[in-house]
Amino acid sequence: MPEIPFDAFRYAHEHRDSVVWMSQNTNHLVPPEIVRGAVEEALRERRYEGYPYASGLPELAERVILDLGLPADSQVQISAGGTEALYMLTRALLHPGEEVIASDPSYLIIHKFIELSGARTKNLDIYAPPYRLTAERVAEAIGPQTRMILLIDPLNPLGSGYPESEVRAIAEIAHDRKLWLVNDVTYRDFAERPTLAYPYAPEQTLTVWSVSKNCGMAGLRLGGLAGQRELVRSVARYNTNDLGVNILAQVAAIAALRTKSGWIGGVRSTTRGNQDRIRSVVAGVPGTSLPVFPSQANMFVIDIASTGLAPEDLQRELLLHHGVFLRSGSYLSPTFGGRFIRASFSNPPADIERFARAFPEAIAALRTSGITPPKAG
Ligand SMILES: Cc1ncc(COP(=O)(O)O)c(C=O)c1O
Repeated sequence: MPEIPFDAFRYAHEHRDSVVWMSQNTNHLVPPEIVRGAVEEALRERRYEGYPYASGLPELAERVILDLGLPADSQVQISAGGTEALYMLTRALLHPGEEVIASDPSYLIIHKFIELSGARTKNLDIYAPPYRLTAERVAEAIGPQTRMILLIDPLNPLGSGYPESEVRAIAEIAHDRKLWLVNDVTYRDFAERPTLAYPYAPEQTLTVWSVSKNCGMAGLRLGGLAGQRELVRSVARYNTNDLGVNILAQVAAIAALRTKSGWIGGVRSTTRGNQDRIRSVVAGVPGTSLPVFPSQANMFVIDIASTGLAPEDLQRELLLHHGVFLRSGSYLSPTFGGRFIRASFSNPPADIERFARAFPEAIAALRTSGITPPKAG
C-alpha cells in the first residue's frame, strides 16, 4: 500500500484540545464571552433558519467603515472571510496576460487567485531589509501589462509594516499610473501606527478587511472589502454567496467591533510581551534568528537556515513531540520557504511558554538524530 503523507492539519485538528496553535496567525486573546453572547442570542432566536439579508446586516457595514476610518459613503461587501473577497476582486479586475506587483514571501493564496484569472504576479524578493516593498522598487517593476499592486500591510509572514510615507508613495504610484491597489489590512490592529492607502488613491484602492485575526473569529469566516461604491459593486458581480454570509458570523462580528476598543489594547500588549519572549528563546538557539523585530502583526518568521534543518521537519517535530503547531515556510514563499518557519503569537503567555520549552528541544533533537518518526495514534 502506498504510504499516506502526514497531514499536519488533520493531526492538529484531531488533537486540538492539547495543541498550541501558532500556525495560522489566529487570535486566542479576545474575551470569549463577546462572541459567545452574540451567537447564543442568535441561536435562541433561531436566526439560522432564515437566509440573512443578502447585503449583510446594515450595522456590520457601518461598523466596518467606522473601524477602518473610511468615508461614511463607502461601500462594504461582506464575504466568507477576506479570502473570498480577494477571489472576487482578482476575478473581476484582472484579465489574461496582465501582471500584479506582489512580493515573495507573501500570502500565496492571493497569488493563486491572480493566476486563476489568467494574470501573473511579479514577485519582488523582500527577504532582505527593509523586508517589505518600497515605492522605488514598485515603480521600477511596473511594465506595460501591470494592472494591480498588492499591498499587504502588515505583511504575512514577515510581520513588517509600512510607514505612512511608503504607503502614500505606493498609493500615489497606483493613482498616477491608474493601477488597482489592493490594500489587505487583515493584521492592521496589531500594528503600532497602521496607515490606510485609501486616502491617497481613493479611485484605485480596494481595502480588504477581515475579522479573523483582530477579532479572533477565524472559524466563523467573515471578512470583505470596502471602497468607492461603483468599484465595489463592479467587484461584487462575482460574489457567489448570493444568499448572504453566515448570520452567526455577522452577529458575532458586530459584537466584536462594538466592543473592540475595550479589549484590543490588551490583545496588543500581550502579543508585544509574547514577541519579547519568543525573541529571547530564539536568541538562545544557535543558527536561528528573527529577520523582523518587532513584528507589526501577530506573527514572526524564524529563520533557521544556518541550522541546516528543513522547516518541514521542524514543524513536524514540534507538533508530534511537543504539541506546538508552527507553519513551515514553503506555504509562504517559493524562493525562501526552505529557510524559515512562521510562528504566530496572539496566544495566552502559557502557550508561548510551551513554545519556549519546545523550540530548543526540537532543534536539538533534529540536530542529533535527524527526523524522528511520528508517534502512533
Ligand atoms: C494577508 C492575508 N490576507 C487575507 C487573509 C484571509 O483571512 P480570512 O479569509 O480568514 O479573512 C489572510 C489569512 O491568513 C492573510 O494572511
